[in-house]
Amino acid sequence: MTRRKLIAGNWKMNGDLAALAELEGIARAADSAGNVEVAMALPATLIAPAVAATPGLAIGAQDVHPAPRGAHTGCISVAMIAEAGARFSIVGHSERRADNYETDADVKAKATALLAGGLSAILCVGETLEQREAGKAEAVVTGQLTASLPKGAAADWLSIAYEPVWAVGTGRTPTVADIAAMHGAIRATLRTAIGADADAMRLLYGGSVTGDNAAALLAAGDVDGALVGGASLTAAKFVPIIEAAAGLD
Ligand code: 13P
Repeated sequence: MTRRKLIAGNWKMNGDLAALAELEGIARAADSAGNVEVAMALPATLIAPAVAATPGLAIGAQDVHPAPRGAHTGCISVAMIAEAGARFSIVGHSERRADNYETDADVKAKATALLAGGLSAILCVGETLEQREAGKAEAVVTGQLTASLPKGAAADWLSIAYEPVWAVGTGRTPTVADIAAMHGAIRATLRTAIGADADAMRLLYGGSVTGDNAAALLAAGDVDGALVGGASLTAAKFVPIIEAAAGLD
């Protein structure tokens, strides 16, 4: 089964209109790496201007509310991001699980809302350092996955991102062998949950991916792409990651 590599950037709470100039270089690299899909999860305020500036690039959000509308001050719905031109959203990022107390049930509801709205989702799972050191990483991650996987989960709209919490923004990464083992466990869990379509679903690794380590991390078994934070903020840092993915196919 060949899965088209997906390299996704997550700007988190960074970026402004001036920073959208970075997307031009990223879009050019995406064009020339035809076998690699590139997606950028931006702050909600930047989605519409980014879509206008770089219409060829898949622009998305970093979170959505599961409800279609209502009294949810400060939140944003699937229809709102879709109207702004978003094609996808991240759900269940560890920063939202930690800062906003999001549960697996919340993450599942958000993914379900994206499916209903015709958008794609990148669903994040990952263990803390304490959980890894206690030997519980695989149980935690597959448990999160099972509890947050929406009904209708399918490879044509959903990707899974394995982001160990202790690797996010720290410059530390698991070994290639540990990543391959975790992605294998995720794939096996997906097979149990959704059957053969699990083999078509993209599994991304996220956590301190850079141009220097991308080729090695992306070559790990069952790694079909990357979810990149800090190194997605500039074309200079992100383009080498796209090129590393293109070089592997
Ligand atoms: P860093 O690439 O900055 O470690 O962030 C990873 C991440 O959280 C992407 O969602």
